[in-house]
Amino acid sequence: MSLITVVIADDIVNTREDVKRLLFFEEDIKVIGEAGDGEEAIRVVQELKPDVVLMDINMPGLDGISATEKITESVPQTAVIIISIQGEHEYLRKAMAAGASDYLIKPFTSQELADTIRRVYEKAKKRQDTLCRLQQAPEEVVPGRIVVFFGSKGGAGRSTLCCNLAVALSQEFKQRVTVVDLDIAAGDVAALFNLSLPGSIAELVREPEINEEIVKSYEVTHLTGVRVIGAIPSREEDFATVAAGIPAVLAVLKEEADYVLIDTPPVLNAAVARVLDLADEIVVVGQTDVVALRRLKADVEFLNMHQLGEKIRVVLNNASFEAGLKLVDIERSLGLQGVNSIAADPKTAHVAANKGIPFVALSKGSRVAQDVIRLAERFVAKEAPAKGERRSLFGKLLSV
Ligand SMILES: Nc1ncnc2c1ncn2[C@@H]1O[C@H](COP(=O)(O)OP(=O)(O)O)[C@@H](O)[C@H]1O
Ligand SMILES: [Mg+2]
Repeated sequence: MSLITVVIADDIVNTREDVKRLLFFEEDIKVIGEAGDGEEAIRVVQELKPDVVLMDINMPGLDGISATEKITESVPQTAVIIISIQGEHEYLRKAMAAGASDYLIKPFTSQELADTIRRVYEKAKKRQDTLCRLQQAPEEVVPGRIVVFFGSKGGAGRSTLCCNLAVALSQEFKQRVTVVDLDIAAGDVAALFNLSLPGSIAELVREPEINEEIVKSYEVTHLTGVRVIGAIPSREEDFATVAAGIPAVLAVLKEEADYVLIDTPPVLNAAVARVLDLADEIVVVGQTDVVALRRLKADVEFLNMHQLGEKIRVVLNNASFEAGLKLVDIERSLGLQGVNSIAADPKTAHVAANKGIPFVALSKGSRVAQDVIRLAERFVAKEAPAKGERRSLFGKLLSV
């Protein structure tokens, strides 16, 4: 049994004593330090590097949210559990977005406290193992990977997945991520992150010179650490100009990020065609109903036809396998293996969209968030995109 080390940060001494009492009989959990405010919490955690810090939200001076942000940044191996009282929802959301792993609402039992600590610890350990494996890989400066979200069916979830995958890569795997919104007419990325933009990608591509400084001036950083170059909804129709300018923008972004994720509209225009060519991976987003599956198959065939098949990673969003269709059947029909699925969870998706904080940060424990985090893990583990049993381009149309 491994010993889980804990630091308690709370400005009230009695509360700290109470928490220690609650943990007294837990043989696998040991309180190794305490802090009375946010500044001290950062100091103590940096010094002791505990597995878990229990963080009160309301503290004098630097509050629990800012301390959480600092700690998850500077001591990534320490997981933060927020301790809050009823009614602090808004703070709680911010704390989760700042990188906290879980939260507890007062009052809680010793069982609830210990279970939460163990759960968070186990998850953090698993993630840490993946990170270690990555770090053991030979150190070399590699340009960021360009990942394009593609699909001809509107509403399949490209924007939602793009933003959530960005947060998962950034927060869970400490990757530097920039999201570029190429759905110029919609501009959903800025909305999903609730960001106001300094300018639109449609203007950036028209700058007479595209260099690091200019590109940076169009970037905004979300609370989750994800950088965004958004689109301000417009009736832009000159896609040839966008297509001409986008390679230079991506060349700059690749130098500064591990992943450049590109959201696209459900139509193929010159700009989309250009980024498909430049992509290292193409996430083809589909759904599990029959109509959407036919479209997905057509999308995959289109990419195969243009020699882009090697880059494909299929993700079934809003996935439901209750109607009799099995994942293996879908894989067989697409001629691909390793198809990913993301659970349907309209409530979580809508609340997150309304709050402007992707659900991977806002409701990390939800099934849909965990599905996206698993998908992110496949990216960072450098698992090849879906390989097949690639059937002929003119394989049978989906026979369902
Ligand atoms: N896994 C999911 N479960 C439930 N609803 C989802 C899921 N993913 C996305 N949605 C919802 O589906 C709608 C369309 O998603 P969006 O990302 O805008 O699609 P697209 O960009 O492909 O047009 C949004 O209302 C979004 O909240
Ligand atoms: Mg969209």
